[in-house]
Amino acid sequence: MASDTTVIQSTDGRTVGKAVVVPGVVFTCGTTSLLKGLSTVALGIAGLGRSEVSLPVQFASAFKFPKKFAMCLSSSSSSKGVIFFGDGPYVFLPNVEVSKSLMYTPLILNPVSTAGAYFEGNPSTDYFINLTSIKINGKAVPLNVALLNITDGNGGTKISTVNPYTVMETSIFKAFVNVFRHEAKNLTKVSSVKPFKYCFSSKNTPSTRVGPAVPLIDLVMHSSSVYWRIFGANSMVQVKEDVICLGFVDGGSNPRTSIVIGGYQLEDNLVQIDLEKARLGFSSSLLFKQTTCSNFNFTSSA
Ligand SMILES: *[C@@H]1O[C@H](CO)[C@@H](O)[C@H](O)[C@H]1NC(C)=O
Ligand SMILES: *[C@@H]1O[C@H](CO)[C@@H](O)[C@H](O)[C@H]1NC(C)=O
Ligand SMILES: *[C@@H]1O[C@H](CO)[C@@H](O)[C@H](O)[C@H]1NC(C)=O
Ligand SMILES: *[C@@H]1O[C@H](CO)[C@@H](O)[C@H](O)[C@H]1NC(C)=O
Repeated sequence: MASDTTVIQSTDGRTVGKAVVVPGVVFTCGTTSLLKGLSTVALGIAGLGRSEVSLPVQFASAFKFPKKFAMCLSSSSSSKGVIFFGDGPYVFLPNVEVSKSLMYTPLILNPVSTAGAYFEGNPSTDYFINLTSIKINGKAVPLNVALLNITDGNGGTKISTVNPYTVMETSIFKAFVNVFRHEAKNLTKVSSVKPFKYCFSSKNTPSTRVGPAVPLIDLVMHSSSVYWRIFGANSMVQVKEDVICLGFVDGGSNPRTSIVIGGYQLEDNLVQIDLEKARLGFSSSLLFKQTTCSNFNFTSSA
């Protein structure tokens, strides 16, 4: 472990302010092999989990702001997204204030660590949420609800940027694909492309502002009125010219966590983690609000 002075850009939530100095930020140096599988330009990993040394917690203590952060991942490799530490507003061009339209669901503590290595008795530092059902075009996916419960640290649903695509336990995945296929029967199916199971021709799939016109997926949280709506831009992956695939993968029959909402489904969605109120806020697709995660105004006035 080491600690050093860190410099980070400040913001009022609309534009970039002056750079600010944070003394004594704790970090660790690791081998470059830890970057394997990440984007080739990645130089390190920012810890944003539910731990006492994560960046949101360290910045909250340095600046005396609430233990809260919001992440907005860009869907394009050529433009950057943004992470806000502390409270909103979160304003994207052209003047779209996202913090006003978030939906919230409680963060659930998994009492057993889900890390590769940990001390006995440590809870998980991952962000678990109370997903209670999945609907496709309003039709409930029949699933074994016991898998959505956390029992002895197993099961449940979390969000994680470690997984590029949402991973589902096999029985959930099969039921999910069946309902999707039924709802998408007007689309032209083509052979599958790994790691995906279900692909379509994009030639005769109309496109909309929120991606290809495909069935809508709702991740229903603790209450039926709180759902994370996934449009084509976050459900379909363009794998080659004219081919789009359902961007969810089979996690096998006995995964540690039943559903892991992965990076692709988070793109152009703003997700706020509020550790003070133990809740997760989510925007659903910003494309629907006519902006994107790359639309934060990084132009400094200085
Ligand atoms: C889920 O867990 C709760 C409390 O831990 C329990 O009351 C409920 O019966 C469980 N549901 C299923 C389907 O196992
Ligand atoms: C398939 O049906 C959906 C609505 O269920 C519609 O939005 C979409 O445009 C249709 N696609 C084609 C290729 O007709
Ligand atoms: C999840 O939400 C359901 C429905 O509101 C509730 O019955 C259950 O207790 C919640 N589970 C947890 C772990 O908060
Ligand atoms: C972005 O912020 C800069 C600095 O505050 C400002 O001068 C510029 O007008 C902003 N751009 C837009 C498109 O609002």
